[in-house]
Amino acid sequence: MLGQISLSSPFFIGTVEIPGRLLLSPMDGFTDSPFRRLCKNFGASLLTSEFINGIDLSYGHPYLKYKTFFLPVERPFSFQVFDDDPERLLSAALKLQHLEPDIIDINIGCSARRVSNRGAGAGLLKHPEKIKKIACSLVSTLQIPVTAKIRLGWDDQTRNFLEIAAILMDCGLSAITVHARTRQQGYSGMADWDAIAAIKSAVNLPVIGNGNVKSLSDAEKMLEHTRCDAVMIGRAAIGNPWIFSGIDRRMVMTHELFKTISQHLTWMTDLYPVRTGTLLFRKHLSRYLVDFPLTPEEKKEIFSMDDPFLLLDRIKAILSYEE
Ligand SMILES: Cc1cc2nc3c(=O)[nH]c(=O)nc-3n(C[C@H](O)[C@H](O)[C@H](O)COP(=O)(O)O)c2cc1C
Repeated sequence: MLGQISLSSPFFIGTVEIPGRLLLSPMDGFTDSPFRRLCKNFGASLLTSEFINGIDLSYGHPYLKYKTFFLPVERPFSFQVFDDDPERLLSAALKLQHLEPDIIDINIGCSARRVSNRGAGAGLLKHPEKIKKIACSLVSTLQIPVTAKIRLGWDDQTRNFLEIAAILMDCGLSAITVHARTRQQGYSGMADWDAIAAIKSAVNLPVIGNGNVKSLSDAEKMLEHTRCDAVMIGRAAIGNPWIFSGIDRRMVMTHELFKTISQHLTWMTDLYPVRTGTLLFRKHLSRYLVDFPLTPEEKKEIFSMDDPFLLLDRIKAILSYEE
């Protein structure tokens, strides 16, 4: 408990009730429906899709059926969209709204060159007037709450997060998530929690803090330090969905680890074609097995397996697990 706020107390994003304060960060290549459902089972209170490219939504793309797939059990559920063109972004958001998510989130923070150099994601931070156009048009057109996820600025010299937060509030956004780094910082260096606190004191809407949270205790510290309304966890959840329930990863019993790996892989092969699902699962598996020393030969063998049943047998052997 921290004053009035506990991690398990609900709050609202617009009209949508969020049952707790620990949320899963959107992560391209990771937060598809199988991983989101696992995180939900362990207590994540809001799930967001991987970011979805407005251009792909306009012209169609084979991957969209996977990126836009979600189940009712994932609610409250948010779709995140990115683009540099305000009209195309609005039409993409309308298409996503048609799929009946609870919230639409605008990505104003992606630092990847292919996104930000095109003027989308964190690239938008250089153009506050474009952010205003995008945010105001989505809020006035969509029927569901609109949120945005921002960074602090393009670089140390242009930390314009207070200006951007004020624009988003004036346009009527329902919440702002703050990844407390600049685009230049990428994912390294300390996140600036004081900046989250400054945004929280400046705006009158829910602020979700993000960056440098690796445990439940870090999340509590962030709530206390910044007075933000909720905390988003990204990388620390990969291979460790237990983080949302406060269970220390090192305390997870082998049978629980195997059960989770097996569930995750099964959901992946249910969603994607079996071979694709198994191969995509490798990046999760390397994180699940991080505490198990593997020889280079074992790594080579496991990470080239494309049959889920053989893979699970091999994992059992590595974990020395017998049912
Ligand atoms: C592999 C990867 C993919 C990401 N994809 C997205 C994305 O699609 N949308 C987004 O807003 N942020 C994305 N992020 C940023 C995270 O949501 C988060 O803001 C960042 O990792 C900092 O939080 P953390 O320290 O808890 O990981 C991504 C991060 C990583 C590592």
